[in-house]
Amino acid sequence: MPLSAPSPFSFMLFGASGHLAQLKLYPALFTLAYKRRLPEQYNIVGFARSKMDDDSFRKLVAQSIREHVPEANESVLKEFLTHVYYRQGQYTAATAFKALHRQLQTLESGWKKKCRLVYFSVPPNVFSTISQNLRKSRIYTGDIPFCCIVEKPVGSDFKSFERVKAQLLKCFAAEEIYLLDHYLGKEAVRNLYYLRYANPVLERLLKHTLIHHVEITVAESVGIEQRAGYFEHTGTFRDMFQSHLMMIMALLTMHLHEDTNTLRERRLNALKQLYLPPTTSMDDVVVQGQYTQGTVDGKEVPGYREENGVAPKSRTNTYAALRLLTRMSRWAGVPFYLRSGKRLEKKDTRISIRFQELHPVGKGSAPNQLHIILFGEAGMRLELQTKLGGPEPAFRPLVLSDPLVCVGDCLPEHSFLLLEAIHSRQQWFLSFEEVQTAWRLLDPVQTHLGKKRTPLYTYAAGSRSPEETDAWLAKDGTSWMYL
Ligand code: BG6
Repeated sequence: MPLSAPSPFSFMLFGASGHLAQLKLYPALFTLAYKRRLPEQYNIVGFARSKMDDDSFRKLVAQSIREHVPEANESVLKEFLTHVYYRQGQYTAATAFKALHRQLQTLESGWKKKCRLVYFSVPPNVFSTISQNLRKSRIYTGDIPFCCIVEKPVGSDFKSFERVKAQLLKCFAAEEIYLLDHYLGKEAVRNLYYLRYANPVLERLLKHTLIHHVEITVAESVGIEQRAGYFEHTGTFRDMFQSHLMMIMALLTMHLHEDTNTLRERRLNALKQLYLPPTTSMDDVVVQGQYTQGTVDGKEVPGYREENGVAPKSRTNTYAALRLLTRMSRWAGVPFYLRSGKRLEKKDTRISIRFQELHPVGKGSAPNQLHIILFGEAGMRLELQTKLGGPEPAFRPLVLSDPLVCVGDCLPEHSFLLLEAIHSRQQWFLSFEEVQTAWRLLDPVQTHLGKKRTPLYTYAAGSRSPEETDAWLAKDGTSWMYL
């Protein structure tokens, strides 16, 4: 049976006119409608400060769906929009929440069963106000199924995370809070765990005795896309490493177990084993960059400091690379290089593993490599080598590769996670402890990156990365496998 929402629900979205809502959430909800995964009775109520009425909001929702869902079917879209409403208000305005409550009561009248979901696609500093208003207005009472879905990053460091956590827990029960990292909703990312689980041959290769080093690359060609307000205070390091890259790390290194109800515990355990390499200089551990003007996909694009809303002397990083180790015995001593950047040559997400060359083999030989590709031509690529014809032991690459196209019930990440939340399943959401552990690990790095004397290298938009990252890696006696 494909995953679906079994009973009526109201979905309230705070930050309804924002970038994430238009890029991911409306398309995700529509895809569920299109694939017939929604019940007959449901409401989507957008709440934001922007002045709009139901009609103009529906236009915005329809536009985002037409833009991002290639199979948008106009008659399904028309029906979908009849479930969509808008409420304009300040997050601090108790009266706006009371009005929202009255609206919900009208919309939900006659429903036998119901569930209410709220989605916080707003900065963490307004979570508390919204949560309190949800309680005071009795939109949340604790006696009907309720999910409060919170977008990453939760907080901006360990301390602010603790504050946000306390504020959320003051209003809702822990099991009603869903901390969302959309990477955990991606088929290809979740498949990491299953690839390891289902392929003992592969699992046996993932061992420190065989591996030289591992790279995890999350490269993006997009820039900050009108999100300067968010990005200036966040930067790539907080935006991408603290959650997405940490989750990929956890799924790759954690202990396997057949019981998927313990996934969060095992991811947490893997995160707890991570540590920064001991060194006298944090510059050996992390390197950061910022894009300048350049060409991406044949189009001239401005540098980061020229983007709307960015300070002309901003030191926010748009690229970072980090070296990490884990105490997990099977990975002991293997360096992991994590990197991510905006406005790079192309979008790509992959894990690249370079195996050790146990002895010199011959002319043209190269170490074996395995790439697990999580975006685009998602798939797997194993690079071996084979002998060239002739008496000499000279070699050429032998490449085994397969695109891992999702076959079966493939849903976009937010669609999958919304249904998981509706079913009260938490395993593909972050636990408070996971987020806490990630901040605790990365806080010192963040502090270092924020210092004026820490270098901030530049790279032209559309290039591979700051050139200095090659020298940074070469100090460890190696080079990038990819890009
Ligand atoms: C988000 C970040 O969490 O992930 C964005 O805030 C980033 O800055 C996005 O662009 C990348 O997601 P995806 O699904 O396109 O890889």
